Amino acid sequence: MIPSAVKIAPSLLAADFANLGEEVARIEDHVEMLHLDVMDGHFVPNISFGMPVVTAVRTVTRLPLDCHLMTTNPVDYLEDFRQAGADSVSVHIEVLPDPTKAMERSAELGLGFAVAINPSTPFAAIEPFVEGCSMILVMSVEPGFGGQEFIDDVLPKVEQARSWIEDHQLDTDLQIDGGVDPDTASRCVAAGANVLVAGSAVFGQDDSVEAIRRLRGET
Ligand code: DX5
Ligand code: ZN
Repeated sequence: MIPSAVKIAPSLLAADFANLGEEVARIEDHVEMLHLDVMDGHFVPNISFGMPVVTAVRTVTRLPLDCHLMTTNPVDYLEDFRQAGADSVSVHIEVLPDPTKAMERSAELGLGFAVAINPSTPFAAIEPFVEGCSMILVMSVEPGFGGQEFIDDVLPKVEQARSWIEDHQLDTDLQIDGGVDPDTASRCVAAGANVLVAGSAVFGQDDSVEAIRRLRGET
């Protein structure tokens, strides 16, 4: 049974971009935040969307907008994302081995801040920075595309991150992103994740509300 403290963050990448307002409306009352995947074609081999989409989505929802920045120069755009209506950002440790500047700038702007970590990057890479983060994002697929298969090997890292957070008596959110479906969700939560990003498993389903319940382990 997944505890009710689990937060669901549907990834807009899997939504129908021609009807974004309707897509958000059908899940809005059932989730805790929205996950917006920004890709620049440099850090990842794909281009998704940027500020104009964040601005547009801001006008149709009260949900917190969490922007996952898969870009090589995230610091240059923090202010723009804030102005577009982002509530929080995630930046990759593979891009910024020392994310202190990004962290400080985000705090000045009133943005929640997460460090994101690719499947093959060890927890040790982010450990010195966890204390300054409101969230940690553990990737369970290689970033760049939705609809990929969950990489089980990341679960020990999720456990390690959860232990670290508990040992330091922090309330840092621990987000997992990629290939999360009702089956993998329960394993992620058992390992200590409390924020589940899901694209295909939410927007890819006819009944997204039922799909969200399944992710929470309610049905
Ligand atoms: C991948 C993105 C994910 C993706 C998840 O680079 O960071 O957020 O949208 O999609 P699913 O849930 O379909 O794996
Ligand atoms: Zn993402």
